Amino acid sequence: MARSSPRLTSDSPAVTEALGAGLGAALRAGDVIVLTGVLGAGKTCLVRGVVAGAGGDPVGVRSPTFVIHQPHRCSSLTVHHVDLYRLGGGASVDVLDLDSALQGGAAVIEWGEYADLSRFSPASLCIDAPGPGPDDRVLWLVDPASAHLARAWRALSQSRQAAT
Ligand SMILES: Nc1ncnc2c1ncn2[C@@H]1O[C@H](COP(=O)(O)OP(=O)(O)O)[C@@H](O)[C@H]1O
Ligand SMILES: [Mg+2]
Repeated sequence: MARSSPRLTSDSPAVTEALGAGLGAALRAGDVIVLTGVLGAGKTCLVRGVVAGAGGDPVGVRSPTFVIHQPHRCSSLTVHHVDLYRLGGGASVDVLDLDSALQGGAAVIEWGEYADLSRFSPASLCIDAPGPGPDDRVLWLVDPASAHLARAWRALSQSRQAAT
């Protein structure tokens, strides 16, 4: 499934977290979401929302400095926050044993473009900072990968439209 979904705007970290929470509430074991965007785009911010939406504690979600894999126990699954930035290009995710992790959990991966994740059929979400304001962001699911994530994103889009 490679159908781009609606572009949603965010003008604050709180809004980005709320969008993440909408995805987090829909997450299922086995889901892998790769987040794309430059440093400071808001990827970790979105993960905070994902963990909250999945029923976990978002406070512990931070940009990993030395740790590239941080599991967060949530209501019915574990959200695995992975950040491959420190591994650089040509990274191998084999060390993470994602296969086992995905049996009872989902993974949200920053800098996933540094590794070949194709066998996990990941969803791909892009965060762009187009301006003009420093806090302006545009987020879209480049590839939802699964119907339930596509539905969750559409629902977020519709609830935004209903609120305006
Ligand atoms: N609309 C927004 N969404 C997300 N973060 C934002 C937004 N506006 C400003 N920010 C700021 O941008 C930074 C994003 O940091 P972070 O989530 O760690 O980015 P990344 O993980 O992509 O490097 C934070 O300092 C956050 O406060
Ligand atoms: Mg980050």
